[in-house]
Amino acid sequence: MDIFVIRGGKPLSGSCRVSGAKNAILPAMAASLLAEGPVEIVGVPVLRDISTFGKLLGILGSEVTRGFDASGTETVRIVNGPVSSMEAPYELVKTMRASVLVLGPLLARYGRARISLPGGCAIGARPIDQHLRGLEHLGAKTSLSEGYIEATTDRLKGASVRFDMKTVTGTENLMMAAALAEGTTVLSNAAQEPEVCDLACLLRAMGADIEGDGTDEIVIRGVQTLKGARHEVMADRIEAATLLLAGAITGGDVTVEGANSRYMGAVLDKLRESGAEVYETDGGVRTKRAGAIRSVNVKTAPYPGFPTDMQAQFMAYMCLGDGFSIISETIFENRFMHVAELRRMGAGIDVSGNTAAVKGVPKLSGAPLMATDLRASASLVLAGLAAAGTTEVFRIYHLDRGYDLLENKLCSLGADIERVKE
Ligand code: EPU
Repeated sequence: MDIFVIRGGKPLSGSCRVSGAKNAILPAMAASLLAEGPVEIVGVPVLRDISTFGKLLGILGSEVTRGFDASGTETVRIVNGPVSSMEAPYELVKTMRASVLVLGPLLARYGRARISLPGGCAIGARPIDQHLRGLEHLGAKTSLSEGYIEATTDRLKGASVRFDMKTVTGTENLMMAAALAEGTTVLSNAAQEPEVCDLACLLRAMGADIEGDGTDEIVIRGVQTLKGARHEVMADRIEAATLLLAGAITGGDVTVEGANSRYMGAVLDKLRESGAEVYETDGGVRTKRAGAIRSVNVKTAPYPGFPTDMQAQFMAYMCLGDGFSIISETIFENRFMHVAELRRMGAGIDVSGNTAAVKGVPKLSGAPLMATDLRASASLVLAGLAAAGTTEVFRIYHLDRGYDLLENKLCSLGADIERVKE
């Protein structure tokens, strides 16, 4: 297993380029199952979740190839042949919950899907009841047997579906299913995340009739068939924000090329509130911090609120704040696994329920740390970059699920970080 060794305390400066968004690429790969021609996704980094999804599509009968387009950008081309299976097996679902995204497309196109029911994970129970209830509204029959959800239908029929809570992949699953359903579907209380809009954009390029994405009501008029398409995926707003925080936490000056400030409003506002300067540059975002880190409060919320996927990283930053910061996690019930590790570096954090009270300390000290999930790993890396001494982060396979060679980007900004074998 790989570990990161970080010798902290160096202000990062310079610029690096953001990758394509994992959480937009996975639904786009799932959407390829709906298409009668090849789907080409442009801007696809090498991430473990993306190769796992590729494996899943392979099992279902698609041919997935990586390559480069004329401008040298990394692309993935997916051609689905005759479907060879309609099953997402436990072995894959247990390593990547986003596998559930094939449920809607398989059902809509082939009338059948068998998906291993994901269990809880490191950040919460994460049920998929809203996906199933929505598909049932569209006429699917679902049942649970031997740990698998079996869903069948003759043809999905458009319907009104109101989600009980905002669910990103739930909205995406329903949007894909409704794209090939008979008649009109209206999704209310839909997730408004930019990744949902990115998927809608691909589906429209495939011939789908979708309106309202980006608002809480999405209207989908089903069509008979969808064709292949080429799609340039959006920039990863979470990776971009993580890199900007790497600049801010080390008292540096970092520009992330390709970052779209429009989708990062809540994080950039908090960065400004904390005393960092934030600028939109020509084609990117720059953060610079010279003075003290002001402690600020953060409460996660569905988009356009502060993203839960940045909570752990922001907490690392607040550990060095000049006062108290209250961080409330409202999306996932168990997303504080990084707290115990940050404490080992000298952080002053008390957790009560879904709230962490962070009392800033003047410095963190390097320590051996255990990564527990994707974003928790990123927060430990940020803390390690700012800490005095050496930090070792174990189990960075979690980080590799969603960050494309993060250490190279950080090194290019002047960080002293290396990947070594345990
Ligand atoms: N929920 C239910 N029932 C459902 C669906 C969701 O109770 O049927 C609950 C969840 O348990 C959670 C809340 O609703 O408490 C929101 O969950 P959501 O469905 O929005 O999460 P997700 O779609 O499974 C995506 C991202 C996550 C990100 C969340 C929230 C992808 C592939 N994953 O997950 O990304 O944290 O939205 O923004 O898009 C990550 O990248 O590190 C990551 C975990």
